[in-house]
Amino acid sequence: MTTTAIILCFLALLFQLLNLNNNIVYFSAYASSSTFGVGSQQWQLLQKSIGIVSMHMQLLNNDRVVIFDRTDFGLSNLSLPQNKCRNDPNEKVVKTDCTAHSAEYDVLANSFRPLMVQTDVWCSSGAVSPDGRLIQTGGFNDGERAVRIFRPCAGCDWEEIQLGLAVRRWYATNHILPDGRVIVIGGRRQFNYEFYPKSDQANTVFPLRLLAQTNDRNEENNLYPFVYLNVDDTLFIFANNQAVLLDYKKNIVVKTFPPIPGGDPRNYPSTGSSVLLPLKKLQQPSIEAEVLICGGAPRGSFPRAKAGDFVKALSTCGRIKITDQNPQWLMETMPLARVMGDMVLLPNGNVLIINGAGSGTAGWEYGRDQVLSPVIYQPNSPFGSRFEVQSPSTIPRLYHSTAVLLRDGRVLVGGSNPHVYYNFTNVIFPTELSLEAFSPSYLDSKNVNLRPNIILPASQVKVGYGQRLAVRFLVLAANLSAVSVTMVAPSFTTHSFSMNQRLLVLYVVGGVVSVSRSTYEVKVMTPSTGVIAPAGYYLLYVVHQEIPSDGIWVQIQ
Ligand SMILES: *[C@@H]1O[C@H](CO)[C@@H](O)[C@H](O)[C@H]1NC(C)=O
Ligand SMILES: *[C@@H]1O[C@H](CO)[C@@H](O)[C@H](O)[C@H]1NC(C)=O
Ligand SMILES: *[C@@H]1O[C@H](CO)[C@@H](O)[C@H](O)[C@H]1NC(C)=O
Repeated sequence: MTTTAIILCFLALLFQLLNLNNNIVYFSAYASSSTFGVGSQQWQLLQKSIGIVSMHMQLLNNDRVVIFDRTDFGLSNLSLPQNKCRNDPNEKVVKTDCTAHSAEYDVLANSFRPLMVQTDVWCSSGAVSPDGRLIQTGGFNDGERAVRIFRPCAGCDWEEIQLGLAVRRWYATNHILPDGRVIVIGGRRQFNYEFYPKSDQANTVFPLRLLAQTNDRNEENNLYPFVYLNVDDTLFIFANNQAVLLDYKKNIVVKTFPPIPGGDPRNYPSTGSSVLLPLKKLQQPSIEAEVLICGGAPRGSFPRAKAGDFVKALSTCGRIKITDQNPQWLMETMPLARVMGDMVLLPNGNVLIINGAGSGTAGWEYGRDQVLSPVIYQPNSPFGSRFEVQSPSTIPRLYHSTAVLLRDGRVLVGGSNPHVYYNFTNVIFPTELSLEAFSPSYLDSKNVNLRPNIILPASQVKVGYGQRLAVRFLVLAANLSAVSVTMVAPSFTTHSFSMNQRLLVLYVVGGVVSVSRSTYEVKVMTPSTGVIAPAGYYLLYVVHQEIPSDGIWVQIQ
């Protein structure tokens, strides 16, 4: 911590104590924030090793992140508690395994505990149900049709539903729906989709031609498709270099988009990443939705990487307004080419592009030239000045690495396991068991006067649809014309795609009003329907001059 940072922290604390009428909630929220005073140091090593690889991650509403790798690549470096072991005759590598392949990371305590999965969760998918449980589906081998539930509660562990899926799902994408069900789309050799839970036993699997059409011979390039719930209750599905809108209720494709210019693939193993850009102007009768897809690897990169030729990754992003009558791609160029990047929506609506490699592809030993510097994309800046390179990490994060947003605005970064086994030595990119946090510059101590703190409502508030919600916050140096309120759905992240990631810029009713010294209130409208915001837990932030507060949890229902 620099001296300036200490002084700023002290001043802020003093200021707060003088504002005691603004109640205790703020004080405790402030005291628990670990992000002030980090100066301009953007990277923080949180854990040297959690004993497993952060191959899949999901933040739950108890500020704990469920993490897992796979059960079929040897013994992890994290023991199961109480002499528990898994005896699984179907296992490919270790039939009696007393190590964990899943863990729960407690963000506030910076601690972790082992969890026990029963079957192989490798390359699976997930979504959080409206009541806050993680519904995780599929995987490999004995886990390929399993559904697993993880409840956010003290001491809880995985519950397994055997044969919960109609068919095997390996490298599928899930999305939560407005009716609370999850749609599970694709997976290796599955050109179809299904729902969980099942409402109709008779017709459980629905074909999707897009997946058959985009499956490249010898390299696939359409696994983990990018899927978003559109504002008209259709699903945008992008695979390889093509996209459609699917009416999942009638099981028909209602629109086909032009292919992304250049024609190169963007999905596994030519793994790019993607986000649904922030949904805004939510009061308007027709809301616009835009999708951004960045990076990937040119067609043919996978077989060439197999032969030892590591092709330079793609440096282009495609952006498309999917609600347009006649949508067209706008192409932009990133400052760094990247395959296997992760795209994370930050609370202020900017997009972080992080992790990955500069050449090669996803898959065993096929990535090269780690890209250590994240890039921030500012969707509202003028074309040509949207990207900003950030300070680099020191740890390569290639295949099987992840990044998720935390409540306090940091981004949790983990994983990297480009080998069939854990392999910590004798390989170019050793398997990585560490966890780091990336702090965007909004957390710099120089921004302490601009950073809002939410006083009311208290975290875990329940809200309805289309309601007025008063949000009270403190900020030392207020600019009342630069306040917005955002809501972010935490995502299930694996293989460079964050499923269910969604950010809403809430409609502000009237203006921001001053309540008392440095205390303000802004009234917003909660989203109008479950199509705009499927029921469940979201992080709500007050954003002031692009600087977000700590989030609070809101459950919309
Ligand atoms: C695994 O755990 C052991 C004992 O805790 C430790 O000495 C070793 O460094 C760990 N290995 C890795 C790769 O983290
Ligand atoms: C990786 O680990 C496996 C299992 O421990 C071992 O058989 C293999 O030789 C290792 N590979 C390298 C390159 O060290
Ligand atoms: C206040 O915010 C508005 C909107 O972002 C901006 O145009 C203006 O320059 C800001 N004023 C100050 C004093 O920073």
